[in-house]
This record gives sequence, C-alpha cells and structure tokens, in this order.
Amino acid sequence: MSSSTAPSNFGWKSAWLVGQAQLDSEHQEFAELIAALQAASDGSLSQCLDAVISHAIAHFGQEDAWMRRLDFPAQQCHMAEHAAVLRSAAGVRQLLRQGDAQPARRFATELAAWFPPHVQHLDSALAAWICKQTWNAKPLVFQRRSHLETAPSAPAMTAMAHPLV
Ligand SMILES: [Fe+2]
Ligand SMILES: [Fe+2]
Repeated sequence: MSSSTAPSNFGWKSAWLVGQAQLDSEHQEFAELIAALQAASDGSLSQCLDAVISHAIAHFGQEDAWMRRLDFPAQQCHMAEHAAVLRSAAGVRQLLRQGDAQPARRFATELAAWFPPHVQHLDSALAAWICKQTWNAKPLVFQRRSHLETAPSAPAMTAMAHPLV
C-alpha cells in the first residue's frame, strides 16, 4: 500500500464509479466501511476492522475470480495489490488483538489513501475488460452533475453498459 496522505473526510464519491453494477455497489460499501473504520471509537475499532476485512476478502475474491476467468491481462499486478492489503489487514488485526490500536488507526488512513487510485485505475480497467468480454461493450457512467457530491440523498448517478454495434 502506498503511504500517501489520506483525505480526512473520506467517503464514497460518484467519481469512483466504474460502470459495472456489482463492482460499483461493492465499492460503495467498501468506502463506507473504510469511513466507519476511520471514525471508529476504541470500543468499536475491532468490529469495524473485522467488517472491512470480511468485505475485502469477499470483494477481492470476486475480482480475482473474474480476472482469472476472463484472462484479464494485468491480473498479476492487480491481484498482488489485493493480497498486500489482506496481508497488512491480517497483521494489523493481530496487533489489535494484542492491545495495540495504533496500527489499525494507521491502516484506516492508508486504506483511505489506497482505495481511490486502486478503483480509478485497476478496477476501472477490470470493469472495462468485463464489459468487453461479456457484452462486447464499454462501461458508461451517467452522472447528474447538479447533484454531484452536494446532495448525498439525491439519486446522483446511474451506471450501465452500452453495447457496441
Ligand atoms: Fe475493487
Ligand atoms: Fe481491485
């Protein structure tokens, strides 16, 4: 994971949509779990960390399976990032169980910094590959600009694939 500066107000952004419905839904949940981990009290830190790890295992597993099944060209690099995050998470969880909360706090910050570029570069490329291999199509993301990031309750976006003819 990189050690760049994480945003202090981390939360889901429609700019991270990749145009593949399952990925987008899971990414939104992932972002919400990261935000909850960042905001966790000492008493809820372990539970929030476990929630992030459970989601990450399932989500990365799904992406890895797609990459293998669809012979995604950049799969080794992408899977290596997933594995590195899970290794870090496992180590942090072990330290937390031993009573050291600081690594879990740092992990939350690092994860918030890692998530956006991973989604925007690696996962968006995977989404494009899935659409191409499945429907001979490109993923399209439609966003309602007047509501972007300003009205969380508004239906700000729709994602769908557009068939190529
Ligand atoms: Fe992802
Ligand atoms: Fe990924």
